[in-house]
Amino acid sequence: MSVWVTWPALTKLGTLGIFAGLIALSLERESLFKNNLFDVEDYPKANATITCDARSRVARTEDGTCNILSNPAEGSVYRRFGRNVNPAVTRGETESDTLLTPNPRDVSNSLMARGEFKPAPSLNFIAASWIQFMIHDWVDHGANAENNPIQIPLPAGDSFGSGSLSVRRTQPDPTRTAADAGKPQTYRNHNTHWWDGSQLYGSNKETNDKVRSFVDGKLKINADGSLPHELLSGKPITGFNENWWVGLSMLHQLFTKEHNAIATMLKQKYPGQTDQWLYDHARLVNAALMAKIHTVEWTPAVIANPVTERAMYANWWGLLGSGGPRDTYQQEVRALQEDLAKSDSFVKRILGFDPNASDGVGSSSIDHALSGIVGSANPNNHGVPYSLTEEFVSVYRMHPLMRDKVDIYDIGSNLVSRSVPLPDVRDRDAENLLADEHPDRLWYSFGITNPGSLTLHNYPNFLRNLSVPLVGNIDLATIDVLRDRERGVPRYNEFRREIGLNPITKFEDLTSDPATLAQLKRLYKNDIEQIDTLVGQLAETVRPDGFAFGETAFQIFIMNASRRLMTDRFYTKDYRPEVYTAEGLAWVESSTMVDVLRRHFPDLGSSLVGVENAFKPWGLNIPADYESWPAQGKMDNLWVNGALRTQYAADQLPAIPPVDVGGLIGAVLWKKVQERGDVTPAGYVKAMHPNGVMAKVKFVAVAGNPYTGLFQGANSGLLRLSVAGDPVANGFQPGLAWKAFVDGKPSQNVSALYSLSGQGNNYNFFANELSQYVVPEVNDTLGTTLLFSAVSLKPTLLRLDDFAEVAQNGQAVATPKAPTQIYFVPKAELRTRFSSTAHDFRNDLATLPAGTKLYEVYATAAEIKTSIIPSISRTYAQQRRSGAVKVGEIELTSPLIASAFGDSGVFFKHQRNEDK
Ligand code: HEM
Repeated sequence: MSVWVTWPALTKLGTLGIFAGLIALSLERESLFKNNLFDVEDYPKANATITCDARSRVARTEDGTCNILSNPAEGSVYRRFGRNVNPAVTRGETESDTLLTPNPRDVSNSLMARGEFKPAPSLNFIAASWIQFMIHDWVDHGANAENNPIQIPLPAGDSFGSGSLSVRRTQPDPTRTAADAGKPQTYRNHNTHWWDGSQLYGSNKETNDKVRSFVDGKLKINADGSLPHELLSGKPITGFNENWWVGLSMLHQLFTKEHNAIATMLKQKYPGQTDQWLYDHARLVNAALMAKIHTVEWTPAVIANPVTERAMYANWWGLLGSGGPRDTYQQEVRALQEDLAKSDSFVKRILGFDPNASDGVGSSSIDHALSGIVGSANPNNHGVPYSLTEEFVSVYRMHPLMRDKVDIYDIGSNLVSRSVPLPDVRDRDAENLLADEHPDRLWYSFGITNPGSLTLHNYPNFLRNLSVPLVGNIDLATIDVLRDRERGVPRYNEFRREIGLNPITKFEDLTSDPATLAQLKRLYKNDIEQIDTLVGQLAETVRPDGFAFGETAFQIFIMNASRRLMTDRFYTKDYRPEVYTAEGLAWVESSTMVDVLRRHFPDLGSSLVGVENAFKPWGLNIPADYESWPAQGKMDNLWVNGALRTQYAADQLPAIPPVDVGGLIGAVLWKKVQERGDVTPAGYVKAMHPNGVMAKVKFVAVAGNPYTGLFQGANSGLLRLSVAGDPVANGFQPGLAWKAFVDGKPSQNVSALYSLSGQGNNYNFFANELSQYVVPEVNDTLGTTLLFSAVSLKPTLLRLDDFAEVAQNGQAVATPKAPTQIYFVPKAELRTRFSSTAHDFRNDLATLPAGTKLYEVYATAAEIKTSIIPSISRTYAQQRRSGAVKVGEIELTSPLIASAFGDSGVFFKHQRNEDK
């Protein structure tokens, strides 16, 4: 094995390489299960006081007991954290040896402190709050001990001043007996170890009673959607409410609502059932839904690699089952099976196995790689009672995910409406902010902002100076480093050895950044063995493709993520209709995080259009089935997630460059006539008309007009008004592009100009009418006619047949009738509205509100005749114009805004004369 795990590289070898990666990963997991599961609990003693009643056989208990009926204490609250490294190397460091070496506050100051915020661009801020929400289901070491705190000398020049920083020790394990004497220290989990939603439901009966309404199986929630709160702290009453901030308020509210929605559904199906029955089933379903969202949505977003994505799908569904998202992978699985049957199997060769050996890679690893854990026959703890581990807690210290402020936006907007420092969104303030700003606005805001990236020099400043009630100010970065040392999590290099990874051999294996290297070498006195685990992990700059964290954390992750499912009776043999109800299982299987958000916050609908993974930045997505959507859905998607999301602030409009004649090369023009999508093809640059404004529009047809299809009305459209280039360079050359969306079919597009050379010094956008046909000009200032000739014999004409052949409801027109030329005639009241002197036309247009009628549309079917004598061509043109009749009006259904999407994202196809 090299320093860095090699399986992700296999993805470069295509589908079978991905499967080779999947099998390699599964072999890795098996070896970790064999070598890295250590239990330190005394079960006979714990079991002695537990009786499993009839209910506990079919429902989750409050304290997590009786999941494993033969060992009922397993995974329950107050059971000790297990280990993923040999307990022999887990003796905690103390002040008398290395606990304070190097000084953890110095580590925090020198390697953790955030200078400039470094975002994780592939994730959104929901992903950060989600993992803390999960952590609060899984682990908690309880309140720290008040006595005898650790005193850390403050380094010279520290911003906290001089003297020492006092940090409370982890609460010791009170259940240790004489039999534990001499063994490494142990700590207890104050949450159940199970993936049972205990952050909502509590880990004991007393907390559970506080959150239940005891009516129809529901949890308590106020009429305004807020959770009841504690009088003194102002924090919500819920299963676990430590380290509270608004991200947790949002998630606790959402999944409390989800619990109640499930209970309502169950009550309708099973009206005769008791409150307890409804509660128990709703909890099972809600907890399973959260576990599924984490497995097949959050995790693939955070470790977005084709191998891990499939591994997570396999964890939940298996790839060999049928139905649901796994269908996508069926074809690939068949390819793998065919490959494995060959004597020179590619996958076996890649993995270094003898293809002729009878058992090849071993059927069990293939089974592991491909078949699901959830719903499998029996829970399997690989011979070691299930618990989460100290090493698991350690790698999930992901505090750099936090930002130092929450930016709040209006739904759909890209412009920050309010920025609130993190210290002001904690505890009581969190609930107030949720009420003031409304949850849907906050969800949208979290959906479009990035969390911090998990690297050095990116630890949130507010967490390095955090005020904790009754404790005072703490530096969480110092504490994170200190806790691993205190709890006996080995330092980085030893940690790697223990979990089957090669140790690093030099500091340069971690990073090439000279300043960081210098700090690392200074702090750890040139000794790589001293590097703290957290520091090493954050410093790992070599990460598998798509990974937000490195391979050291990943090793721990693959063990514990799988064990949370495979050891739990309610995710294995009891994940069945008799225990969950058929409706309950269907609820889990058919809901995604996007569904949950939509269910409770319908106003997020348009922002979530096309969003397949709620944890990736929400924005414009064009999913594979986009074309089949209704016209309005397509328009809303481009408008909300394209234009509004990238709107320029009024005082930050980009300068308009001159036309890039060189950019109008044949390849670009070919795209303009060949591509039919609504967004620009990769690499397409608007060499002309690069800047403008865009709005949603409707075309209101004149009843009885002679033209068919979209000429009879088009309610969902986008209109872009632009100039060809910098008016100072080439005069003012107005143009428009109109896109009419069609249900289930491609949109139709037309563009129009006043003339090729424009209107000179007249900056009034509405001074002249525009048309999709302009008379070729001898004095065409840019020579564009010549350039367009490369792709069309009639370079100054766009055809309108496509518009006439389809109606907005997608129906094809049997006998289409299209005009040859249309004219966009500015409404009389607009013609003189704006100044003709030099100014930025975008500011004019931005003042027009929704509802403004912009253009009357005239059309003629007269043949387009031209002459080599320009004056005759002009006469023909005048004749056509005077015979044209009004067919409708273009009306704004939103204001006109300037946006990056409007300027470089949206694509208006040209229909050439040849494309009739
Ligand atoms: C406003 C946000 C947050 C605050 C105020 C906060 C605060 C804290 C505090 C005070 C501790 C206990 C420190 C101690 O041992 O004395 C802690 C532990 C921890 N936090 Fe956070 N945290 C936040 C966000 C997060 C996030 C986003 C994660 C992501 C995974 C996270 C993961 C953890 C973990 C794994 C522990 C260790 C738990 C244990 O020792 O049992 N926290 N946090």
